[in-house]
Amino acid sequence: MREDIDWAARRLEAASRVVCLTGAGVSAESGVPTFRDAQTGLWSRFDAEELASPEGFERDPGLVWRWYMWRLDQLKAAAPNPGHFALAQLAGLCERFLLVTQNVDSLHEQAGSGEVLHLHGSLLHFRCNSCAAPHHLTGEQRRAESPPACGLCGDLVRPDVVWFGESLPWDVVEEAADAAQGCDAMLVIGTSGLVYPAAQLPLIAKRAGAAVIDVNPEPGPISSIADLFLQGKSGEILPALAGSVADRRANA
Ligand code: OAD
Repeated sequence: MREDIDWAARRLEAASRVVCLTGAGVSAESGVPTFRDAQTGLWSRFDAEELASPEGFERDPGLVWRWYMWRLDQLKAAAPNPGHFALAQLAGLCERFLLVTQNVDSLHEQAGSGEVLHLHGSLLHFRCNSCAAPHHLTGEQRRAESPPACGLCGDLVRPDVVWFGESLPWDVVEEAADAAQGCDAMLVIGTSGLVYPAAQLPLIAKRAGAAVIDVNPEPGPISSIADLFLQGKSGEILPALAGSVADRRANA
């Protein structure tokens, strides 16, 4: 493992542009459930694909609202873990570093990462389901059994996240794809690599000649195309990796 970390550190240090793609796994050690873990994942407790969909919201807005407020409560109780902090540190050590996340939590920002592209939106933001006007929730609305009405058009307010069957924000996807095309190294952290277009980004980087480094306790579609698979938890591997890059910089 030490040699693998050193190899990855060399690639990051030499890269003029690094892109990092994160998924639910980077927040697992903060106690935020991943999506597909059979025992504790969000999918095991709820039919997440039904709740996180325009059809589910239309059928039962109160149920969807309460599910999101439960997830928001979980998030409020969570704090960034050493993996989040290591990524913020790496951003300061690399020449150019862009963090792209599929996560709707804000743990990267809380750990000090400045520029974060959110492919799937944010659990902390709300907007009107029809006119898209942003909405700031009051404490009372947070505790309510059903979503509030938009002050502008009267339709229901919803979380500003991407639901199943909805398109991702095209400008964010374009920026992430451009960065993947132009990077020299891509770190992929804690994602099952099953959901597109996010899962396409490591392939774009690989085809453009970048070194792809996958960090995950389990092998999967990304590790099979990666130049290096660092098998383990991001909260353990990323601090070692950031430490190695920092040492190399200090000794340069
Ligand atoms: P998944 O739940 O599909 O995958 C989580 C990944 O994290 C798995 O590959 C785990 O092996 C890995 N993992 C678990 N613990 C880890 C740890 N401590 N360190 C590193 N990795 C760990 O989550 P995503 O790939 O993020 O989309 O899912 C992608 C998208 O699917 C989500 O953004 C969501 C969902 O549908 C939307 O909500 C639109």
